Order: sequence, then C-alpha cells, then structure tokens
Amino acid sequence: MSELNLILLGPPGAGKGTQAERLVADFDLPYYATGDILRAAVKDGTELGRQAKEYMDRGDLVPDEVICGVIMERVDSDEARDGFLLDGFPRTVGQANVLERGLQALGRRLTAALLLDVPDDEVVRRLSGRRVCVKSGHLYHVEFDPPKHDDVCDQDGSRLIQRDDDKPETIRRRLDVYHEQTAPLIDYYEERGILRRFHGGRPPGEVHDHIRASLATLRLENEL
Ligand code: AP5
Repeated sequence: MSELNLILLGPPGAGKGTQAERLVADFDLPYYATGDILRAAVKDGTELGRQAKEYMDRGDLVPDEVICGVIMERVDSDEARDGFLLDGFPRTVGQANVLERGLQALGRRLTAALLLDVPDDEVVRRLSGRRVCVKSGHLYHVEFDPPKHDDVCDQDGSRLIQRDDDKPETIRRRLDVYHEQTAPLIDYYEERGILRRFHGGRPPGEVHDHIRASLATLRLENEL
C-alpha cells in the first residue's frame, strides 16, 4: 500500500479539524494538529506552551523555530512510517521548506495538500459559533452542528467551551495572518503539482465525500 502523506490547508475555521476527524477514521492515519499540540502545551505549562502562549493569544503565528522541530519529530516517528495527516502545519513558506527538506532526507514526499476554500465572512460566522469539548476536542457549532443538549458534548458528556482565540478581534487578526503568511502556500503546492482544492463552504458531509473520493483516486494512481 502506498504512503498517504497529507496536509490540510485553509483559513482558520475552514473545517480542517472537522474533516481531519473523518479522514483519520477513513484512512487510519496518525494525526498531528499544531493548534491542538500547542493548546495542550499551554494547558500543561510546558516550555513549549510558555513560548507559544503570547503569540496564540494575539492570533499571531508562533515562530518557525518553536514549531518545526515539534512536527518533524512526529513525522519521523515509527507510527507515521506509512503516512500522516498534518493540520495547521506548514503555515509559512519557511515551515513548508523545512517539511520538504525533512521528508526528502527520509526519502519521502508529500502526497497531497488538501485546500479547504472558505470566504472570510463565513470564517467569522463559523468561529464565533464554534464550541469545543474540554475532554477530547470534539467540535460543534451553535447553528450549523449544535449538540443535543446545550453546552454538553454528545460523544462524551463533557462541557463545551469557546476557544480563547475565537473572540471577534482575534478572529480578524488570525484571518489577516492567514492571508499574509499562509495563503502563499497555495501557489507553493500548486507549483509542485500536489494541490487539491475543495469547496469548504459546502456541508461537512459533502466536503468529506469529495476529499475521500479524491484521495481514493490518488492512491490508485500512485499504485499503478
Ligand atoms: P489552529 O488550532 O490550527 O487554528 P486554525 O488554523 O485557526 O484553525 P481552526 O482550528 O480555528 O479551524 P479549523 O479549520 O480546524 O475549523 P474547524 O473544523 O474547527 O491554530 C491556533 C493557533 O496556534 C494559531 O493562531 C497560532 O497562534 C498557533 N499555531 C498553530 N499552528 C501553527 C504553526 N504551524 N505555526 C505557527 N503557529 C501555529 O471548524 C470551525 C467551526 O465551523 C466548527 O464549529 C465546525 O463545527 C464548523 N464547521 C466546520 N466545517 C463546516 C462546514 N462545512 N459547514 C458549516 N460549519 C462547519
């Protein structure tokens, strides 16, 4: 079976985490989400969390030198030998270069960059209504995907909260940062012939069907 080395690209709130939950179940891939890793580090009070917190609170990116080693260690681990799904990394051209060179050194390469396209006004609607379960990070939206009972996770009964960086002024800053620093990766991966675009404004199930079909085709092509 060929490797599936995947990254999810897209603005904040594009649905990267939502799709990742489904793709991990489909393809049984280890999943590394830099936002989750950094939030856990802040919560645990580790050195990484200490370095990252002030940037995250402002909606800025943490410096490349803080995050690159964390991800490359995971990509080079035994569990990621047959593939991985990265969410939130790379986010700058510098990070993309580190990933590309690191994979080359291992004799590997990315299979696809999955871009979820969503307009800015939709991002604001989604992030202001997002709720996350404190125990396992299950995702909800007060309007588009509400829990059965207010503020309680359907899957594990834990409390639902709003993320600190989902406040309106921080959402705007995150969008600006995305357009300035992360959107250039669209051309970067287009030039390498591995960009796959998806209309992230469609309902989650539809977006998932499109991505899954595209990956199934890609896998078949790679095995031919
Ligand atoms: P991170 O946690 O990665 O945040 P993000 O990229 O801003 O992405 P989000 O998690 O906000 O959104 P998402 O696309 O996963 O959407 P979701 O599925 O939740 O990063 C946070 C911070 O960490 C950064 O600001 C930075 O400081 C730091 N950081 C992280 N990585 C870094 C890196 N590599 N370098 C430097 N710094 C880094 O969906 C959103 C909502 O919409 C949910 O409520 C969901 O239910 C709903 N929804 C999802 N899909 C749909 C749909 N199709 N239709 C309707 N609603 C939908």
